[in-house]
Amino acid sequence: MTNSKVVVVTGANSGIGTSIANHFSESGCRVISLDLKTDSKILNSDVTSYLCDVTSESSAIEAMKQVRNEFGPIDVLIVNAGVVPSWQSTENIDVEDFDRVMRINLLGSVISLKSAVTHLRAPGASVVMTGSINSWKGDPNIASYVASKHGIAGLVKSAAMDLGKRGIRVNAVAPGAVLTDALRKRVLDRNDNDASKAEAYLENLAATTTSLGRIATIADVVNAVEFLASNKSEAITGQLIHIDGGVL
Ligand SMILES: NC(=O)c1ccc[n+]([C@@H]2O[C@H](COP(=O)([O-])OP(=O)(O)OC[C@H]3O[C@@H](n4cnc5c(N)ncnc54)[C@H](O)[C@@H]3O)[C@@H](O)[C@H]2O)c1
Repeated sequence: MTNSKVVVVTGANSGIGTSIANHFSESGCRVISLDLKTDSKILNSDVTSYLCDVTSESSAIEAMKQVRNEFGPIDVLIVNAGVVPSWQSTENIDVEDFDRVMRINLLGSVISLKSAVTHLRAPGASVVMTGSINSWKGDPNIASYVASKHGIAGLVKSAAMDLGKRGIRVNAVAPGAVLTDALRKRVLDRNDNDASKAEAYLENLAATTTSLGRIATIADVVNAVEFLASNKSEAITGQLIHIDGGVL
């Protein structure tokens, strides 16, 4: 990664986004977090945090303008903000909650990208979205999340074709389960808040669903994002890169 690149990360106030932002800032890039919150205690102090709600076009337009005015053209845009809903079987889908998840995960990604386009370095910028294993496969009880993340796979394909003409690449990473605090909490919730049951659930997931017998780490996701953001992937666009220990 060439140092001093301008890197914008949505949803960098916690979890995977924080690790991505910290990694780029430690590589010498100028990194900006756009998030609903700015209270992270683990985000590096040289990462600039702007409040932004990615579901609001005016909020995202304002934030991207601010980035452009303060830092210049954006070299790397990481579209990462997202939520995972609580489990609901299909017959019990809460339509309002479905809409909320689609608005944050899919429409929020559309708004983040659309608002940034005129501020992206052209040619040369790279956009990386955080999809999910649920961008290509289903899971029970989580239709809104699966639908929203499948949408990311479609969005990158279409946007890659539109923006390729300007020399801008658009890809997504598709992590399987990654042990963030948010995931730990979800797994605990789904296992009656029993820590040993939650641990056994994760061990079973790794052993029975992955080729490598392990789930991906945050570092695995960061490495793939770095590759897609760098010129080592300069002929790659419109792709969804699976990072899940080989779920096939
Ligand atoms: N953790 C996993 O196992 C896993 C696996 C696959 C994909 N993902 C995806 O990775 C991304 C990050 O997940 P995480 O586990 O780090 O979650 P997280 O909850 O730790 O982080 C999500 C961040 O997004 C921000 N955010 C939420 N709504 C927003 C909005 N409207 N505007 C701006 N910011 C908003 C939150 O404030 C938070 O900082 C998500 O897109 C998620 O779907 C996570």
